[in-house]
Amino acid sequence: MTKSIFDLSGQTAVITGASRGLGQYFGRALAQAGADLIVTSRHADALAPFVTEIEAMGRRALPLELDVRDHDSIVRFGAAVEKASDQVHILVNNAGCNVRKPALDVQWEDWNLVLDTNLRGSFFVAQQIARGMVQHGYGRIINIGSVTSVAGFAGLGPYCASRGGIKQLTMSLADDWGKYGVTVNCLAPGWFKTDQNKILYEDREWVEYLMDRIPLKRHGEPHDLDGAIVFLASEASRYVTGQTLLVDGGVSTGATRATARKV
Ligand SMILES: NC(=O)c1ccc[n+]([C@@H]2O[C@H](COP(=O)([O-])OP(=O)(O)OC[C@H]3O[C@@H](n4cnc5c(N)ncnc54)[C@H](OP(=O)(O)O)[C@@H]3O)[C@@H](O)[C@H]2O)c1
Repeated sequence: MTKSIFDLSGQTAVITGASRGLGQYFGRALAQAGADLIVTSRHADALAPFVTEIEAMGRRALPLELDVRDHDSIVRFGAAVEKASDQVHILVNNAGCNVRKPALDVQWEDWNLVLDTNLRGSFFVAQQIARGMVQHGYGRIINIGSVTSVAGFAGLGPYCASRGGIKQLTMSLADDWGKYGVTVNCLAPGWFKTDQNKILYEDREWVEYLMDRIPLKRHGEPHDLDGAIVFLASEASRYVTGQTLLVDGGVSTGATRATARKV
């Protein structure tokens, strides 16, 4: 029987920040497509229920500790990955955080937290995992960006800067590692309701404002990302690199929607 170009059987995927939220959805989608997982959190214990869930699907899931703000932790993590797995085929650089504040209130520490986690962390994790991918001549790196990779939003200065940086970093790494058979792309979700931002969705006025600007007229559900993550992780995307794939209900088309006449 011909293998589907979306089939990930026999492959290993590393997903950072898989203790909750979108990281777990990415993990489920990749495991469903056949991949075994290596999953991370700053607190390995927090991964136990997810590991059990993935094992119940008949896949392997190895929990590892990783703090992407700590270079020593990244190096230790890289060594543990190398020891545990002959080859990593897929990396999902998902660990991230946000600080929502008006720009005038942003503190030096807020900036460092968001940029160190989202941008510097993603770079050094990619570097660590790419060493093995380069040796094997194959890899799929998926950096998680955001609609803020391509548009600015009030109250999200450091976050937008970090996600804009991820888009540029993706292009740069794609150019660096393409010759080794490693593709690097950015998956950029729009407005999804998760633990990280559920408080926003309690503000009905804001939700109405947002829905008016999303062409598909709803916020994202985590499963809306399943197809995109499997596509970027699989053979199906073999000639795609350096790209940012927005999965956002079309909100990025509507930067001028606020000023346009309603139709
Ligand atoms: N939710 C959305 O609507 C949305 C939209 C666009 C993009 N994103 C991005 O998608 C990713 C996941 O979002 P989410 O909503 O699922 O977030 P979340 O629920 O807050 O989960 C964030 C994950 O990142 C990990 N993490 C945070 N800081 C870390 C650090 N210093 N070192 C290692 N891991 C760290 C956390 O693990 P531990 O705390 O267990 O260590 C957790 O597993 C983030 O990068 C986010 O910016 C989200």
